[in-house]
Amino acid sequence: MSKQKLIIAIDGPGGSGKSTLARGLSSRLGLLYVDTGAMYRALTWKAIRNKIDFTQEKKLSKIAKESHLELKPPETAGGEIKVFIDGRDVTEEIRSPLITNHTSDVAKVSGVRGCMVAHQREIAEHGNAVLEGRDIGTVVFPDADIKFFLKADVEQRAKRRQKELSEKGTEVAVDKIKEDLLKRDDIDSSREDSPLKPAEDAIPIDSSTMSVEEMVETALSHIKKLS
Ligand code: DC
Repeated sequence: MSKQKLIIAIDGPGGSGKSTLARGLSSRLGLLYVDTGAMYRALTWKAIRNKIDFTQEKKLSKIAKESHLELKPPETAGGEIKVFIDGRDVTEEIRSPLITNHTSDVAKVSGVRGCMVAHQREIAEHGNAVLEGRDIGTVVFPDADIKFFLKADVEQRAKRRQKELSEKGTEVAVDKIKEDLLKRDDIDSSREDSPLKPAEDAIPIDSSTMSVEEMVETALSHIKKLS
Protein backbone atom coordinates (compact mmCIF):
# COMPACT_ATOMS: atom_id res chain seq x y z
CA MET A 1 0.00 0.00 0.00
CA SER A 2 1.56 3.30 -1.01
CA LYS A 3 -0.43 5.46 1.44
CA GLN A 4 1.25 6.18 4.76
CA LYS A 5 -1.91 5.98 6.77
CA LEU A 6 -4.89 3.82 5.94
CA ILE A 7 -8.25 4.09 7.67
CA ILE A 8 -10.85 1.43 6.87
CA ALA A 9 -14.44 1.95 8.07
CA ILE A 10 -16.79 -1.00 8.50
CA ASP A 11 -20.41 -0.41 9.47
CA GLY A 12 -23.52 -2.54 9.55
CA PRO A 13 -26.06 -4.13 11.90
CA GLY A 14 -25.27 -6.75 14.55
CA GLY A 15 -24.38 -10.17 13.20
CA SER A 16 -23.63 -8.92 9.69
CA GLY A 17 -19.99 -10.04 9.93
CA LYS A 18 -18.30 -6.72 10.80
CA SER A 19 -16.04 -8.13 13.52
CA THR A 20 -15.03 -11.11 11.43
CA LEU A 21 -14.15 -8.88 8.50
CA ALA A 22 -12.37 -6.31 10.69
CA ARG A 23 -10.29 -9.01 12.39
CA GLY A 24 -9.45 -10.58 9.01
CA LEU A 25 -8.35 -7.27 7.50
CA SER A 26 -6.44 -6.33 10.63
CA SER A 27 -4.36 -9.51 10.51
CA ARG A 28 -3.90 -9.56 6.72
CA LEU A 29 -2.87 -5.88 6.48
CA GLY A 30 -1.28 -5.39 9.91
CA LEU A 31 -3.80 -2.74 10.97
CA LEU A 32 -4.93 -1.71 14.43
CA TYR A 33 -8.39 -3.16 15.05
CA VAL A 34 -10.84 -0.87 16.83
CA ASP A 35 -14.09 -2.48 17.95
CA THR A 36 -16.19 0.59 18.77
CA GLY A 37 -19.20 -1.50 19.84
CA ALA A 38 -17.04 -2.91 22.64
CA MET A 39 -16.61 0.63 24.00
CA TYR A 40 -20.38 1.23 24.17
CA ARG A 41 -20.79 -2.23 25.70
CA ALA A 42 -18.22 -1.48 28.43
CA LEU A 43 -20.03 1.74 29.35
CA THR A 44 -23.30 -0.18 29.54
CA TRP A 45 -21.63 -2.71 31.85
CA LYS A 46 -20.56 0.14 34.14
CA ALA A 47 -23.99 1.82 34.03
CA ILE A 48 -25.68 -1.42 35.10
CA ARG A 49 -23.09 -2.02 37.81
CA ASN A 50 -23.66 1.52 39.15
CA LYS A 51 -27.46 1.03 38.94
CA ILE A 52 -27.90 3.96 36.57
CA ASP A 53 -31.23 4.01 34.82
CA PHE A 54 -30.94 4.21 31.02
CA THR A 55 -33.20 7.28 30.97
CA GLN A 56 -30.67 9.26 33.06
CA GLU A 57 -28.82 10.76 30.13
CA LYS A 58 -26.72 13.18 32.18
CA LYS A 59 -25.42 10.40 34.40
CA LEU A 60 -24.66 8.21 31.40
CA SER A 61 -22.77 11.05 29.73
CA LYS A 62 -20.82 11.64 32.96
CA ILE A 63 -19.79 7.99 33.06
CA ALA A 64 -18.63 8.25 29.44
CA LYS A 65 -16.55 11.32 30.26
CA GLU A 66 -15.00 9.94 33.43
CA SER A 67 -14.30 6.33 32.48
CA HIS A 68 -10.94 5.09 31.36
CA LEU A 69 -11.55 2.80 28.38
CA GLU A 70 -8.83 0.70 26.81
CA LEU A 71 -8.83 -1.71 23.90
CA LYS A 72 -5.78 -3.96 24.03
CA PRO A 73 -4.71 -5.68 20.80
CA PRO A 74 -5.17 -9.46 20.50
CA GLU A 75 -2.29 -11.58 21.79
CA THR A 76 -2.48 -13.84 18.74
CA ALA A 77 -3.14 -12.87 15.11
CA GLY A 78 -6.87 -12.79 14.42
CA GLY A 79 -7.67 -13.18 18.15
CA GLU A 80 -10.01 -11.14 20.33
CA ILE A 81 -9.11 -7.69 21.59
CA LYS A 82 -9.27 -7.24 25.36
CA VAL A 83 -11.57 -4.57 26.72
CA PHE A 84 -10.82 -2.72 29.95
CA ILE A 85 -12.85 -0.11 31.80
CA ASP A 86 -11.16 1.70 34.69
CA GLY A 87 -8.49 -1.00 34.67
CA ARG A 88 -10.91 -3.92 34.90
CA ASP A 89 -10.97 -6.58 32.19
CA VAL A 90 -14.61 -6.85 30.99
CA THR A 91 -13.89 -8.68 27.72
CA GLU A 92 -16.12 -11.64 28.55
CA GLU A 93 -18.85 -9.87 30.55
CA ILE A 94 -19.70 -7.34 27.84
CA ARG A 95 -20.78 -10.14 25.48
CA SER A 96 -23.59 -11.33 27.79
CA PRO A 97 -27.20 -11.13 26.54
CA LEU A 98 -27.96 -8.56 29.29
CA ILE A 99 -25.32 -6.13 27.99
CA THR A 100 -26.10 -6.92 24.34
CA ASN A 101 -29.76 -6.06 24.85
CA HIS A 102 -29.14 -2.77 26.67
CA THR A 103 -26.20 -1.22 24.83
CA SER A 104 -28.35 0.49 22.21
CA ASP A 105 -30.11 2.39 25.05
CA VAL A 106 -26.78 3.81 26.18
CA ALA A 107 -25.42 4.30 22.65
CA LYS A 108 -28.32 6.55 21.66
CA VAL A 109 -27.36 9.23 24.22
CA SER A 110 -25.65 12.17 22.45
CA GLY A 111 -23.35 13.01 25.37
CA VAL A 112 -22.11 9.42 25.38
CA ARG A 113 -21.58 9.36 21.59
CA GLY A 114 -19.65 12.65 21.59
CA CYS A 115 -17.13 11.24 24.09
CA MET A 116 -16.80 7.91 22.31
CA VAL A 117 -16.34 9.46 18.86
CA ALA A 118 -13.55 11.73 20.19
CA HIS A 119 -11.88 8.75 21.83
CA GLN A 120 -12.16 6.61 18.68
CA ARG A 121 -10.58 9.35 16.56
CA GLU A 122 -7.76 9.67 19.07
CA ILE A 123 -7.07 5.92 19.06
CA ALA A 124 -6.96 5.67 15.27
CA GLU A 125 -5.56 9.00 14.14
CA HIS A 126 -1.89 8.03 14.52
CA GLY A 127 -1.84 4.75 12.72
CA ASN A 128 -3.26 2.42 10.17
CA ALA A 129 -6.53 1.17 11.52
CA VAL A 130 -9.71 -0.71 10.74
CA LEU A 131 -12.70 0.45 12.76
CA GLU A 132 -16.05 -1.28 13.00
CA GLY A 133 -19.31 0.12 14.30
CA ARG A 134 -22.47 1.87 13.16
CA ASP A 135 -21.27 5.41 12.41
CA ILE A 136 -17.64 5.02 11.39
CA GLY A 137 -18.07 5.98 7.75
CA THR A 138 -20.71 8.63 8.43
CA VAL A 139 -19.44 10.37 11.59
CA VAL A 140 -16.19 9.08 13.12
CA PHE A 141 -14.10 9.01 9.94
CA PRO A 142 -16.18 10.51 7.09
CA ASP A 143 -12.88 10.81 5.16
CA ALA A 144 -11.87 7.18 5.65
CA ASP A 145 -9.88 5.78 2.73
CA ILE A 146 -12.44 3.08 2.17
CA LYS A 147 -15.81 2.27 3.69
CA PHE A 148 -17.71 -0.99 3.74
CA PHE A 149 -21.34 -1.43 4.75
CA LEU A 150 -22.16 -5.00 5.64
CA LYS A 151 -25.57 -6.54 5.60
CA ALA A 152 -26.92 -10.07 5.91
CA ASP A 153 -30.20 -11.85 6.02
CA VAL A 154 -31.68 -11.67 9.56
CA GLU A 155 -31.98 -15.49 9.80
CA GLN A 156 -28.30 -15.77 9.04
CA ARG A 157 -27.36 -13.04 11.51
CA ALA A 158 -29.38 -14.74 14.25
CA LYS A 159 -27.74 -18.11 13.54
CA ARG A 160 -24.27 -16.54 13.74
CA ARG A 161 -25.08 -14.90 17.07
CA GLN A 162 -26.52 -18.17 18.38
CA LYS A 163 -23.29 -19.98 17.46
CA GLU A 164 -21.12 -17.30 19.13
CA LEU A 165 -23.20 -17.50 22.31
CA SER A 166 -23.23 -21.28 22.29
CA GLU A 167 -19.42 -21.35 22.01
CA LYS A 168 -19.37 -19.30 25.20
CA GLY A 169 -21.75 -21.69 26.94
CA THR A 170 -25.01 -19.70 26.58
CA GLU A 171 -27.88 -21.35 24.73
CA VAL A 172 -30.58 -18.99 23.36
CA ALA A 173 -33.36 -19.88 20.91
CA VAL A 174 -32.79 -18.50 17.43
CA ASP A 175 -36.22 -16.83 17.35
CA LYS A 176 -35.44 -14.89 20.52
CA ILE A 177 -32.10 -13.75 19.09
CA LYS A 178 -33.86 -12.69 15.88
CA GLU A 179 -36.44 -10.68 17.81
CA ASP A 180 -33.69 -8.96 19.86
CA LEU A 181 -31.63 -8.21 16.75
CA LEU A 182 -34.58 -6.56 15.04
CA LYS A 183 -35.37 -4.52 18.15
CA ARG A 184 -31.76 -3.28 18.34
CA ASP A 185 -31.67 -2.55 14.59
CA ASP A 186 -34.72 -0.39 15.11
CA ILE A 187 -33.19 1.60 18.01
CA ASP A 188 -29.81 1.95 16.24
CA SER A 189 -31.36 3.07 12.93
CA SER A 190 -34.00 5.42 14.28
CA ARG A 191 -32.01 7.34 16.90
CA GLU A 192 -31.51 11.05 16.26
CA ASP A 193 -27.75 11.15 16.76
CA SER A 194 -25.75 9.29 14.10
CA PRO A 195 -28.22 6.56 13.19
CA LEU A 196 -27.04 3.35 11.58
CA LYS A 197 -27.01 3.96 7.83
CA PRO A 198 -24.57 3.45 4.99
CA ALA A 199 -22.31 6.38 4.08
CA GLU A 200 -23.04 7.54 0.53
CA ASP A 201 -19.67 6.28 -0.64
CA ALA A 202 -19.74 2.98 1.27
CA ILE A 203 -19.22 -0.26 -0.64
CA PRO A 204 -22.05 -2.66 0.19
CA ILE A 205 -21.20 -6.28 1.00
CA ASP A 206 -23.94 -8.84 1.55
CA SER A 207 -22.33 -11.50 3.69
CA SER A 208 -25.41 -13.79 3.93
CA THR A 209 -23.89 -16.62 1.95
CA MET A 210 -20.20 -15.73 2.16
CA SER A 211 -17.50 -17.65 3.99
CA VAL A 212 -15.05 -15.66 6.13
CA GLU A 213 -12.40 -16.05 3.44
CA GLU A 214 -14.77 -14.82 0.71
CA MET A 215 -15.72 -11.79 2.77
CA VAL A 216 -12.09 -10.84 3.45
CA GLU A 217 -11.06 -11.44 -0.17
CA THR A 218 -13.96 -9.33 -1.46
CA ALA A 219 -12.92 -6.42 0.77
CA LEU A 220 -9.23 -6.87 -0.12
CA SER A 221 -10.03 -6.71 -3.82
CA HIS A 222 -11.54 -3.25 -3.27
CA ILE A 223 -8.69 -2.12 -0.99
CA LYS A 224 -6.10 -3.12 -3.59
CA LYS A 225 -7.67 -0.68 -6.03
CA LEU A 226 -6.61 2.16 -3.70
CA SER A 227 -2.90 1.78 -4.40
O1 DC B 1 -21.36 -4.02 17.29
P1 DC B 1 -21.92 -4.37 18.66
O2 DC B 1 -23.03 -5.39 18.63
O3 DC B 1 -20.86 -4.75 19.64
O4 DC B 1 -22.57 -3.00 19.18
C1 DC B 1 -23.20 -2.91 20.41
C2 DC B 1 -24.19 -1.75 20.41
O5 DC B 1 -23.49 -0.51 20.34
C3 DC B 1 -25.22 -1.74 19.29
O6 DC B 1 -26.52 -1.59 19.84
C4 DC B 1 -24.92 -0.52 18.48
C5 DC B 1 -24.05 0.33 19.35
N1 DC B 1 -22.96 0.94 18.58
C6 DC B 1 -23.16 2.24 18.14
O7 DC B 1 -24.22 2.82 18.35
N2 DC B 1 -22.14 2.85 17.46
C7 DC B 1 -20.99 2.23 17.20
N3 DC B 1 -20.02 2.88 16.54
C8 DC B 1 -20.80 0.89 17.62
C9 DC B 1 -21.83 0.26 18.30
